[in-house]
Amino acid sequence: ASEAEEKDLVIIGGGVAGYVAAIKAGQSGLKVACIEKRGALGGTCLNVGCIPSKSLLNNSHLYHQILHDTKHRGIEVGEVKVNLQAMMQAKDTSVAGLTKGVEFLFKKNNVEYIKGTGAFQDEHTIAVNLIDGGETTVRGKNILIATGSEATPFPGLTIDEKKVITSTGAIAMQEVPKKMVVIGGGIIGLEMGSVWSRLGSEVTVVEFLGQIGGPGMDAEVAKQTQKILQKQGMKFKLNTKVTKGDAEGEGVTINTEAAKGGKEELLDADVVLCAIGRRPYTNGLGLENIGLETDDRGRLIIDQEYRTKIQHIRAIGDVTFGPMLAHKAEEEAVAAIEYLTKGYGHVNYGAIPSVMYTHPEVAWVGQNEQELKSAGVKYKVGSFPFSANSRAKTNLDTLGFVKMLSDAETDRILGIHIVGPNAGEMIAEGVLAIEYGASSEDVARTSHAHPTLSEAFKEAAMATYDKAIHY
Ligand code: FAD
Ligand code: NAI
Repeated sequence: ASEAEEKDLVIIGGGVAGYVAAIKAGQSGLKVACIEKRGALGGTCLNVGCIPSKSLLNNSHLYHQILHDTKHRGIEVGEVKVNLQAMMQAKDTSVAGLTKGVEFLFKKNNVEYIKGTGAFQDEHTIAVNLIDGGETTVRGKNILIATGSEATPFPGLTIDEKKVITSTGAIAMQEVPKKMVVIGGGIIGLEMGSVWSRLGSEVTVVEFLGQIGGPGMDAEVAKQTQKILQKQGMKFKLNTKVTKGDAEGEGVTINTEAAKGGKEELLDADVVLCAIGRRPYTNGLGLENIGLETDDRGRLIIDQEYRTKIQHIRAIGDVTFGPMLAHKAEEEAVAAIEYLTKGYGHVNYGAIPSVMYTHPEVAWVGQNEQELKSAGVKYKVGSFPFSANSRAKTNLDTLGFVKMLSDAETDRILGIHIVGPNAGEMIAEGVLAIEYGASSEDVARTSHAHPTLSEAFKEAAMATYDKAIHY
């Protein structure tokens, strides 16, 4: 970037939030530059998050299925082995293809890609420490902060990404650890715990709360999911907190205690995965140079149009409020650019799905039963088990259920919770239903192809206002 040139928009961070905003801005005819320090576009999601974890989840599931789930299907297999190096290679190939793809889209949409670390010099000027050496500055009429998040460290345990790891170490291990302790039974703990458990590790998940799944998961779904994962070999210690850890010497020792105090226990492991949540990342961004502050959880404070108190500086994605999800970041990116170019934008925060890519998958949108109860909302429940669904039966994949919650008076759908095969794809229908303000009867009276898993969705809807046919 030349020092004199002023862009319409400078974006700091090339993750999902930043890169989608950059493409949208380019498409809208803005002169736009995107600064990214990692040396590859796509941020956490493409490089060390969504994509590599799903590659490992998919391939470890295939392995696990070949080991344990073929005989009764009439398939006999010989010796089955994991080649971890090749599995990691497959993951890296997927990641590289996608990050390069984003770079191509930048070129296609006239986005200038600046490889380096950006920091505010003043309200319109970003100083960039270039990856290839040297420095430059870039000026923007508008600036978008999309610097994402990082793993919250566990106090007293130093992350080395070998023995004491975050998700970043968990997607890159060179060998299968014999014993693995996971601190935190949220989405990362369960997804990465699943991967290594399937590949042969003895995995124990320590969770502070009385249920797994992290924030938002329906309690009934969490309970059933826990049972299923236990059957697959994972161990759980709920209502238990980790008080400290010791990684000196060989292996790691973890001290746990009942969440309410009292019962103490020592766990030893070869590897400890810290998965207690993520926190916004604004290190080195120079916020102090422009007087921007974050809240008590490190989030940049914004208004409904994603503006900070400095009106031409916006923030979206993990660095600000809301669920730390790639598709949420993507929605905000489009909306933020529309606010900038048209003056209006739209994100429906009540219709953002969550998916956990274990097997079976867990997916939900809207409110769960705990939330509705504590808000005093009167609601109806319709459930349908996959064990009564013809396609799940033919696939010999019948664990789980679909649960629909709708308003007791109006029948408007308030929440949908699924644990079961393909839940992550199926939830899209639920998101659309909620987005369109559908009632459970609307869904129930919509024809669903037979035999498909999505008939379980339709029948759960039928059961919400009337009765299911097949159960
Ligand atoms: P990020 O993706 O973190 O991107 C921010 C970028 O900004 C980074 O690349 C960083 O290098 C760069 N940056 C920071 N500071 C500077 C600076 N000063 N100068 C230049 N560049 C800077 N979400 C889902 O929806 N589905 C999933 O399946 C899923 N799986 C996940 C699995 C794991 C293991 C993890 C950790 C996360 C997962 N997530 C998933 C969450 C998802 O990755 C995030 O919500 C998403 O990446 C947020 O996008 P973002 O652009 O806000 O931030
Ligand atoms: P999380 O917030 O989902 O779960 C953290 C869990 O750790 C909670 O259940 C919490 O009660 C527990 N915990 C906290 N401190 C603890 C302690 N001291 N001892 C024991 N348990 C403790 O966070 P996680 O799993 O780290 O994931 C971070 C974020 O990344 C997610 O919230 C999600 O936004 C995103 N993500 C999304 C994925 C997806 O969409 N499939 C996959 C992976 C991550």
